[in-house]
Amino acid sequence: MQSKLEALQAAAVALLEDVANPQDVEQIRVRFLGKKGELTALLKQMGQLPPEERPSFGQRVNDLRSMLEDRIGAVSGRLKAAALEGLLAAQTLDVTLPGKTPKQGCRHPMGIVLDEVYDIFLGMGFSVADGPEVETTYYVFDALNTGEGHPARDWQDTFYFDDTTILRTQTSSVQVRVMEQQKPPVRIISPGRTYRKDEIDATHSPMFHQIEGLVVDKGITMADLKGTLETLMKRLYGEGARLRFRPHHFPYTEPSAEVDLQCFVCQDKPSGTCRICRGEGWIELLGSGMVHPNVLRGCGIDPDIYSGFAFGVGVERLAMMRFGVTDMRLFFENDVRFLRQFV
Ligand code: DAH
Repeated sequence: MQSKLEALQAAAVALLEDVANPQDVEQIRVRFLGKKGELTALLKQMGQLPPEERPSFGQRVNDLRSMLEDRIGAVSGRLKAAALEGLLAAQTLDVTLPGKTPKQGCRHPMGIVLDEVYDIFLGMGFSVADGPEVETTYYVFDALNTGEGHPARDWQDTFYFDDTTILRTQTSSVQVRVMEQQKPPVRIISPGRTYRKDEIDATHSPMFHQIEGLVVDKGITMADLKGTLETLMKRLYGEGARLRFRPHHFPYTEPSAEVDLQCFVCQDKPSGTCRICRGEGWIELLGSGMVHPNVLRGCGIDPDIYSGFAFGVGVERLAMMRFGVTDMRLFFENDVRFLRQFV
């Protein structure tokens, strides 16, 4: 019995000296100390010893158990630490390698300007209205005092689906839709796409964007229109922005005005070589006026009680002026070298 115990101890100690990985240590533990292990088996045979030898034998078995437990713990701890160190060494991270830059998009320049316009108008108490791009001729023309055969239809008449359905040529159609639904006070802007038969060049496109503005209330005058547009332009282009109101004609406003912004390149000295204004000194920005009584009446609003102003401005124009872009085709070509510049 004693010699068996000694042989067991020698075998376990020898194995623990040579063991190379944590899994093997676990096997040694199970083999010697496990429930069905060799040490337990030896303990079970203790009954074969004369009774007086049993306590000291039991004591030796227990001593050996705790000695082996200590060694196994130490060996396994050492091997696990070494394994971890090996892993860390193999997986070194070279922080000097060039990184992978995540591709990041950026805002479209017209989106940037549109957001600025929203901000300015929401701050003045306006809300944003929406209307359909596929529209009836009633909303695009008739209700805007531009009946069948009116010459003003000629230069806009464009993309028809049938006799009375058209891709809207102007966002002014939303004015009527809003006034049919909402009685004064009305204060809205309405941005969106519009379509005309324009040939494509640096300043024209058969599809472009407009923002319509409409205010109807008691006592609204041309001064309100001027104040609103001046606020818009100064907020967009800086306090130095100067506007010029030129008399014009639109069927749905009376009086009407076209509004020009002073060229920010030429300032007071127009130059024939200027790519922005082509020597004019001013850039045409928008159409506007006091809402025609016929338009108000058609929407059930009494023009003797209420008055209003309206305007329609091209978003491409606003963005071109804002960023000094001289060809609006750049906005639609989706060349990332161009688009990436606007962050
Ligand atoms: N609808 C005009 C255009 O497309 C712009 C315009 C002019 C809008 C006068 C208006 C307005 O609301 O009152 O050129």
